[in-house]
Amino acid sequence: MVRRFAGLLLGMLVLTGPAWADGDAAEGEKVFAKCRACHSAEPGKNGVGPSLAGVFGRKSGTLPGFTYSKAMVEKALVWDEKTLAGYLTDPRGFVPGNKMVFLGLKKQSEIDNLLAFLKTKK
Ligand code: HEC
Repeated sequence: MVRRFAGLLLGMLVLTGPAWADGDAAEGEKVFAKCRACHSAEPGKNGVGPSLAGVFGRKSGTLPGFTYSKAMVEKALVWDEKTLAGYLTDPRGFVPGNKMVFLGLKKQSEIDNLLAFLKTKK
């Protein structure tokens, strides 16, 4: 019995994969409240910051119709789990000179959930 339970747990761990992959999109939408003052998740709707619809796979600083800082354009990275987590943890350290006024998210769970939410916004 105990053995079977352990086997089941192990199987679940293998199935769910690395920690960053199992964020909760509904929780992430709540975290997105911290971004809404400046970002929409609707395509084409820019505010103080660029729309974050379709941000996964986008090259930094390239959304048409938004005026980015030189720093963001020249950074020329592709937004994925790793780069977004890095930027959102420490915006100023990750892209020095960029103009997003945001201190950064502190909790890994907030980032995981937020990224799960953003992934649903194509
Ligand atoms: C006070 C306004 C403000 C807040 C709050 C804010 N941002 Fe931003 N964000 C900006 C601005 C302005 C830029 C453009 C930066 C530049 O060009 O240097 C930006 C850029 C970005 C980019 C790069 C997009 C691209 O097209 O290259 C991402 C990703 C991003 N923000 C995510 C977020 C997320 C997620 C949050 C919430 C956790 C957030 N931001 C909170 C203003 C804000």
